[in-house]
Amino acid sequence: MKNTISKIGVFTSGGDAPGMNAAIRAVVRGAIYYKKEVYGITQGYEGMIDGDIVKLGARSVGNIIQRGGTILKTARSQEFRTPEGRAKAFQNLKKNGIDALVAIGGDGTFTGLHKFYEEYQIPSICIPGTIDNDLAGTDYTIGFDTATNTAVEAIDKIRDTAISHNRLFFIEVMGRNSGYIAINSGIAGGAVSIIIPEESMTIEELFAKLDEGGKTNKKSSLIVVAEGSKIGTAMELAHKFSERNNYFDIKVTILGHLQRGGSPSYFDRVLASRMGVAAVEGLINGERDVMVGIRNNQMVYNPFSMIINHRHEIDNELLRISKILSI
Ligand code: F6P
Repeated sequence: MKNTISKIGVFTSGGDAPGMNAAIRAVVRGAIYYKKEVYGITQGYEGMIDGDIVKLGARSVGNIIQRGGTILKTARSQEFRTPEGRAKAFQNLKKNGIDALVAIGGDGTFTGLHKFYEEYQIPSICIPGTIDNDLAGTDYTIGFDTATNTAVEAIDKIRDTAISHNRLFFIEVMGRNSGYIAINSGIAGGAVSIIIPEESMTIEELFAKLDEGGKTNKKSSLIVVAEGSKIGTAMELAHKFSERNNYFDIKVTILGHLQRGGSPSYFDRVLASRMGVAAVEGLINGERDVMVGIRNNQMVYNPFSMIINHRHEIDNELLRISKILSI
């Protein structure tokens, strides 16, 4: 299987993440370094289906390493979920002579590409790009570090005003199924409670904790709630708590999509650069149907089948210390 590829297609898919551009740059320049041609497919699988494919050169990816978003644009394609959509995509790749793919995205992207590989056997590698850090097989995904720093910066600012007014803030951070941003930004921002989808704290336990603060004359507090909280959104929790609370003035801030934008941190740029080169080298060395990951600071390749059926568990140590520190 070694060295049989000559034209690599690269695309971003799913939710964008800071550092995706650095990954695109690394794939393009890595491919050219190894004397392969490289094509950018715009808007993920949508562009593959519509034939929106352009040849890229080393200069086409200049001045993007520091930029948020993705120059290739991204989408969540419904049509690629259908056999007809995938057949159209395959025809377009064939028309352009593309014989290998690098996808940058999250679990939805990988699930699609795994299916495509099973059907058409196009050598494929994924690079994990999502702010959620929820993928098995890698310690970090591209974008997580930047998004968490963005959340911490926002939490620090909210703290200033919370203290000035003696207020209790429920702050919602992203993470539909994953509490990575919440647990890390919550610890870094000094939150009194952190609500994540993976841990089953009850509403009663949360409110008892807040009552304790009220009794001990705590004047202000921050609670970080992951978007995927199983006990209610930040807004719902604030509403319920306001029905029984008579000491805190309560406010809610939803950080939302601002966590997805902005210039990537040094960490995400270096991670993306390493992963982009590793993806190209993996394809050249015969890796197929795998995701690049970083484990103990080493690049690794994990089969999609292993990634898709597993999740990146939250580190129990983080949960433990967040409780110790929030007395
Ligand atoms: O998967 C990344 C993510 O930002 C999640 O944290 C969030 O739940 C989701 O995407 C939001 O998706 P959309 O941008 O489509 O609203």
